[in-house]
Amino acid sequence: MGNGGPAPTVPTAPLLRALSETGAIGSTARQLAERVSRPLPAVSERLAELSEAGRVLRIGRGLWILRDFETLDGQSGFVEPAAYTERFLNEEGVPLGRYDGPITFADNETAPVHRWWPYVQGYSAGFVAGLLERADLPRGASVLDPFSGSGTTVVEARRAGLRGLGAELLPPAVLAARVKTDFGLSRAALGTAARACLERAARRAPGPLPFLRETERQFAPATREALTRLRDALPPPTTPVARALRVAFGRILIPVSRLRRSPCLGYGGKDPAVAPDPMAAFSSAVAEMQADLATLDRDRASWGPRATLWEVDARRLPAPKGRVALAVTSPPYVNGMDYVMNYKLDLAWLGYARSYDDLIRLRTAMVACDNLPRGAADAYLRPDEADDPWLRELLPRIRANVARKRTYRRDDVHGIVLRYFADLRPVLARVYDALVPDGRFVLVVGDSLLAGTYVPGDLLVARLGRALGFSIDSVQVARSRRSGQRRSFELRESIVTLRKPRAAA
Ligand SMILES: C[S@@+](CC[C@H](N)C(=O)[O-])C[C@H]1O[C@@H](n2cnc3c(N)ncnc32)[C@H](O)[C@@H]1O
Repeated sequence: MGNGGPAPTVPTAPLLRALSETGAIGSTARQLAERVSRPLPAVSERLAELSEAGRVLRIGRGLWILRDFETLDGQSGFVEPAAYTERFLNEEGVPLGRYDGPITFADNETAPVHRWWPYVQGYSAGFVAGLLERADLPRGASVLDPFSGSGTTVVEARRAGLRGLGAELLPPAVLAARVKTDFGLSRAALGTAARACLERAARRAPGPLPFLRETERQFAPATREALTRLRDALPPPTTPVARALRVAFGRILIPVSRLRRSPCLGYGGKDPAVAPDPMAAFSSAVAEMQADLATLDRDRASWGPRATLWEVDARRLPAPKGRVALAVTSPPYVNGMDYVMNYKLDLAWLGYARSYDDLIRLRTAMVACDNLPRGAADAYLRPDEADDPWLRELLPRIRANVARKRTYRRDDVHGIVLRYFADLRPVLARVYDALVPDGRFVLVVGDSLLAGTYVPGDLLVARLGRALGFSIDSVQVARSRRSGQRRSFELRESIVTLRKPRAAA
């Protein structure tokens, strides 16, 4: 470190603060330079000094994290994934299997209909299609997704001749799923409405910007203006065509901005000079929809009934009891993703949220993630209240690590983990009730590394299912992922298959 050298041009405190904000995910030097408003070369130099001093760490692909986020697994008491796998086999009699096939949303980015509103948190349409095909359900049977997101499950269900049922709390995702399952939408009416909207937008004066503090940073001035004109020209969302235009508008927000999702929303890696024109991007999005509607139309005879999408908390799922043939979902993961912040642009620009308080309220209503407002996990700070003995062992370790390190963003991580499983419990219970006897509930879920503690989220979800009356058919590892907390630590994403007993009421 430059002890005794010239005074640094980049002060340490704001840089470290900026790094602590992106925590285990990390930031690039360019992002940090923007954050602390200092030139990139000076920030890079300062990072190199801090790295030498052991305070920050480069974790590959140009990302920097605070050293404290790196590793705790050399510590005594760290329980390795393999130890849990073995214990799971001993206690539940189920070995970890493998699944070779698509699982992430990547394929959907170019797949007809799924691409209308790309949802990085979604899962693979091919995975769902394969599952439905193998399930060989009678035509019109109900398939439920309690966290239906952008509607991957319900779209594939309808294509397979089945009735999709979905619950979701993120309003733009519900909108997208409703529009994406409206296979009979008129292509001509959509084209006419889009043209009329563009004409109105061309005549309008620029409108007000949404409440988001960073709007001016997120978009070039001309783009901002064009977006406000286009937004204000959208017809009210009272018809299927008007709702489809809103999805097209939501779809272009990130491509025309300086932001990208990787998978969280962030700056960097984009040349603002080449951002597409919003009007042209909107026209292309609508043209894509029209082309996909034409593709869908060829299989009209095999479509299932219209899907039902509830904008509700999955813990209060209104699904009919004993009528669902198969449930499929990817729930939020235990440390997970802040869906609200990641889709704040859609929420703000489409008027679903009018203030930061609105965003916070929505986030608090969701299954717990580590961005919950302070106090939201206060009722869950006692590990001894966990039902699962694995959690009763695990949570105190998280608490102890946080207390020892003192550099985590928050000191209630163990409470968030407990609340996460408490949040999932009623969802699994409702799905159990909704399923027919012998019906399966298939969950794509990952494990996590939290405050230096390994949390086998997939196995814990399987155990939660078993505690609620399901049997555990299988846990199949579908892919490995990198831990955000420590890049060299390999996490996984698994397919957990639960089954309601034949004799169940
Ligand atoms: C992993 S994503 C599901 C993605 C979906 N499988 C797809 O392909 O688009 C999890 C979803 O759960 C939603 N969610 C979180 N808490 C919820 C709750 N309490 N009730 C309903 N949905 C919730 C999030 O908004 C997010 O869309």
